[in-house]
Amino acid sequence: QLIDKGNHRHFMQKEIYEQPVVVAQTLRSYLRPLESKVALPDMDFDLSAIERVAIVACGTASYVGMIGKYWIEQLARVPVEVDVASEYRYRDPVLLPNTLGIVISQSGETADTLAALRHMRAAGVTTAGIINVPTSSMAREVDLLMPTHAGPEIGVASTKAFTCQLAVMAAFAANLARAKGRLGDEADVVQQLQQVPEAMSEALGHDGDIEAMAPKIAAARDVLYLGRGPEFPLALEGALKLKEISYIHAEGYASGEMKHGPIALIDEAVPLIVIAPSGPLFDKTVSNMQEAQARGAQVVLISDAEGIAQAGENTIATIEMPKVAPLIAPLVYAVPVQLLAYHVAVAKGTDVDQPRNLAKSVTVE
Ligand code: G6P
Repeated sequence: QLIDKGNHRHFMQKEIYEQPVVVAQTLRSYLRPLESKVALPDMDFDLSAIERVAIVACGTASYVGMIGKYWIEQLARVPVEVDVASEYRYRDPVLLPNTLGIVISQSGETADTLAALRHMRAAGVTTAGIINVPTSSMAREVDLLMPTHAGPEIGVASTKAFTCQLAVMAAFAANLARAKGRLGDEADVVQQLQQVPEAMSEALGHDGDIEAMAPKIAAARDVLYLGRGPEFPLALEGALKLKEISYIHAEGYASGEMKHGPIALIDEAVPLIVIAPSGPLFDKTVSNMQEAQARGAQVVLISDAEGIAQAGENTIATIEMPKVAPLIAPLVYAVPVQLLAYHVAVAKGTDVDQPRNLAKSVTVE
């Protein structure tokens, strides 16, 4: 298979643009639209017997785990713990019976994640993996392989693997919920997930606006990202992406935690990226945002038309997303977050696909 950049300037840009296609491709193997069902590959254990879930991953994949915690607990009412793999074994985790261990990895080779998987298996825990490389060590060792179909990811900073992992995680959460007799309207979940590729394409349509505002962010020394609920891990991912490729110091925070520290950093020189789809959590996030604005924060609001109409004033920029169901918002809002990091890095002239000191796959601990 020939891998080239096509008409894109960087692999990262190409991979961001591929998302509607590869997420659709991934969802195709998890959705049975004619039967209105969300399906998983065959497994030789009983999903309904699972009483807790332990998720382990590194980097961007670990944020999929954190978003998964919101989804699994909400939909299936099964308790979830999430660890970064490098901490997992060393904290000597308590592994109770009927735990499902889940590893998430693009490469399937990250040393710490692989070691955590082996630790779980040695403890007798059933394991599953959300993995992009089907021939990888992790793919071979898990009891249940839940593949992503993102295709080869070349850019060191993960983009399309992240959203494909989210798509699979959503499918897993829905299946576990059904196994627990809690899913409710499955047709509705199928329909929501089917809307993802188109909503992502719409999000990509704002590339020009994001490119135009990137120089404002490129001049900053620090950037803060805020989100609430499943958009909190996405704020962490936004900050990670920006750090990785633009070398600007960035932090992601749960909106409500801003007053417990980061607000002390805020002045006119610190852009604040607020990831806030309209909905039940919106007003609270906006009030956190306004506290920052009162201290001079330069806010970029990423929301839908309704959210922007309500809170878009006094911002330096707004990025309008389509109105989507809460379940799929993290997948759709990932797009502007990735594009922002990309354009800021391009504006700074860094090596987007091969950022300094980083490796695509970290195979030593
Ligand atoms: C490296 C990459 C990240 C990736 C992480 C985990 O740090 O630069 O983009 O998220 O490893 O990799 P994995 O292959 O396990 O998903």
